[in-house]
Parts: sequence; C-alpha cells; structure tokens
Amino acid sequence: MLWPITTTINAAGHLAIGGVDLLDLAREWGTPLYLYDEATIRERCRAFHAAFDARYPESAIVYAGKTYLSPAILAILREEGVWLDVCSGGELGLALRCAFPAARIVFHGNNKSPDELRLAVEAGIGRIIVDNELELGRLIALGEELGRRVPIALRLNPGVGAHTHEYRLTGVVDSKFGFPTIDDQAERAVARAIGAASVELLGYHCHIGAHIFELEPYRDAVAALFRFAAEMRDRHGFIPAEISPGGGMAIAYIPEDEARQSAPDQIASVIGDALRDCAAAVGLPAPRTWIEPGRALVGQAGVALYTVGAVKEIPSVRRYVAVDGGMADNIRPALYEAEYTAAIANRPGPRFHAEGGTASEGELTSRVVGKYCESGDLLIREIALPPVETGDLLALPASGAYNLAMSSNYNLAFRPAVVFVNDGRARLTRRRETLDDLLSAEVFES
Ligand code: LLP
Repeated sequence: MLWPITTTINAAGHLAIGGVDLLDLAREWGTPLYLYDEATIRERCRAFHAAFDARYPESAIVYAGKTYLSPAILAILREEGVWLDVCSGGELGLALRCAFPAARIVFHGNNKSPDELRLAVEAGIGRIIVDNELELGRLIALGEELGRRVPIALRLNPGVGAHTHEYRLTGVVDSKFGFPTIDDQAERAVARAIGAASVELLGYHCHIGAHIFELEPYRDAVAALFRFAAEMRDRHGFIPAEISPGGGMAIAYIPEDEARQSAPDQIASVIGDALRDCAAAVGLPAPRTWIEPGRALVGQAGVALYTVGAVKEIPSVRRYVAVDGGMADNIRPALYEAEYTAAIANRPGPRFHAEGGTASEGELTSRVVGKYCESGDLLIREIALPPVETGDLLALPASGAYNLAMSSNYNLAFRPAVVFVNDGRARLTRRRETLDDLLSAEVFES
C-alpha cells in the first residue's frame, strides 16, 4: 500500500489521515510538513512480529534507525517491542537519551570511530556488528580495558547481488562493507574473536542492500553465511548462535510497485525456511536471527505535504509545478532517481490513490519540482495530475523513510516540522527550524 492505512477522503472532500484533515495540519504548522500516521507504524511492526512469530519464532525485528529517528518514533517502536539498529554515535546518543533499552540496540558501520565504540561498550549495547579487522582489534582492547565481554557479530560480505540502485547495493564482493569471504580475512577474524576473552562472538550478519523487491537474494545470502559457518565449525569448532540476513525489504512508492512488494508473511517464510533448511543441510543447529527493516516499518506511514507555488506551462513540452520544499527535504529523486506519486489534498478526486502514469482526460503531464537552485531539484519527474493551482496542497505518500533522515539545510532551507497523527489528533513532534537554529553553530567574527 502506498498511503497510510487510515487515509480517507473526509466529508469536506479533503484527504484525511489518522482522522485529521491535511488542510488543518498545513494551516496550523505550515508547509513543507511531514506527517506520520501512528496506526500505520504500529500495524507494520505487528505484521512483521506476527509473521516471524509464526514462521521463525527465534527472531527479533530490529528497526534500521538511519531510516528516520526521533524521540516520538523511538517511543512507538519501543512499545511495539522492536529493537534498534544504529550506525553512528549520534543515533546511539539519541537512543540512549530516550532511554531505549541498550540491550536491544545493534551497532552497525564500516568505520566506527574509537569514541563511538567506547560509547557503545560503556552503554552495554546488545550487539556490535564488527565490519573489519581494525574494529575487532579496538573492541578486544576496549573490552580488556573496561573489564567487559563485548557481544559482537561479524558482518560478512556474502557476494550476493540484487536489483536495486547501485548506491544501495552492499552485498556484492566489490563493497566497502563487511569482511570479504573470498579469502581468509573473515576466517582470521573468527579465529581472533573466539580466542579473545574480552569479546563474545555471537555469530554472523550480512546486509545485501536496501529497497530490494526480490526475496531470492535473501535465500542466497543465508546460504552463503551457512557455507562459511560450516567451514568455521569444521576448522575452528565455532557454532554461531545467531545469523542475520539484515534488512532492505522494499516498499511501494508508486502504484506500479504495489504488486511487487512482499508481505511480511512472505518475507518471514523465505528467510525462516532458508535459515532452517541451510542449517539442516550443513548440520548446524538452527540459529536465532534478527532482521533489520527500515523503510518497511515507517515508509508508508509518512506523507510529505507541500503548498503549490508557481505553475508554468511550456507549450508542447510540459507543465512545471513548483512546491515550497524539494531536494533539501527529499534528496532521493536526485540521488537515486527515486519515484513518487502525489495527490492534491484539497480535492483528491476518486482516484487519488492511483495517480501516476499517463494523463487521462482533464489531466496534464506535470513535473513536480522544488524551490532549490538546481535543475536536479525535482520530486516527481512525470505525473498525470488534474489542473493544479497555486495554493493547492500536494501530498506525497511513502515519504516516511530517508527523506527527513537525509534532509539538509541546502540554500539555508529550514528543515520541516513533523507531526504525528492518531485517532483524530495531531501532535507536533519536531518544530520547523528557524534561522537561529541554522546559525547556532556559526562563529560570527566582528
Ligand atoms: N540494515 C543495514 C545494515 C543497513 O545498512 C540498512 C540501510 C538497512 C538495514 C535498512 O534498509 P531498508 O530496509 O530501509 O531498505 N538512503 C537510501 C538507502 C540506504 C540505506 C542504507 N542502509 C534510500 O533512501 O533508499
């Protein structure tokens, strides 16, 4: 599904989400505005939990915090029993400030700094996913210094490809992430980890990439991890308690994606069967697992709201619809050629949920662009929209993942406000930035 599960057209003929009219939100907090529908986040968490409980109960659902992190979202995830993956001292710091249980935090990253590692070990977080030999050495030393036994897993490069944007591939051999398994680097790490008293090697992890529709690559990745695990058992006697195939499960951004998106049940059966079958095939006990969905938990819950400004028709070319946000709050179209759809919130019409594709009668092909000084600042390259007027409120669904997380102050843009909606109520969870916020770190010289 593209839109939050509570999306309706209300009596006024406006789009409403979480029982709240989007026009009221825009009026109260201005645009650009991001909203999150709490019911959708909870529904996605519950669907993943139910699917894995039914098909592979020895599993945890770990939210990839890089997708979008804030106190409000952490509180919901925590209530839903979801764990957290962080990939920087900043993300870890936010989680700790919000009193997120340290034992449920997993720390990723290909070049964690000594300070970040120390913060993680001192906080007693649940797992540190070791990406390279340098980090392993630092963790062994830190554990000795602090008198801790640091729980770790090794991130392996399984040498598995998938269909996604090149920038989102991480499991191919030629990647900056993880220990290569094509020579003895990963094996040396296993031997060193099991020989060190200050780290506890729990098992293996891999992450093949992000926004992947197919499920076969997950099966291939699990198989690759077990091949390695069996060799390590034979040569070093090490039996992994945990094996994780990471995250990266795709969501629908445009109507055409909806049929390609896998339900949590399908994901759980492919990964659960792969873990069980591969373990049996090599004679290892079935391990515990965790998966790391990011966009699959929060992407659908988020909607971006913009006010239409200048509308320009270029005869025989196209119509440009300029909105009051753009690449500063959503870099994804410029970075990955990511596609989006939109609806006019103040008069969505009966087929609001299916817009995109070719224009039908009364519609015009438009390009939705931002307000920043780049020709690449576009949000939707091509969309069939009914006539759009200055002042219309444009709503872009599937905006909950990575838009705000990757937002910037380009052109000294103020990052948007964020509102959570639920049961007919809206609450501000982040105010719009101000010029003072942007200048607060500058040193003014007189
Ligand atoms: N686990 C690890 C170790 C990851 O590196 C990532 C994403 C995930 C899980 C979650 O992937 P997801 O389930 O959200 O697809 N900024 C990009 C994607 C880069 C993601 C980096 N890692 C985007 O906007 O599509």
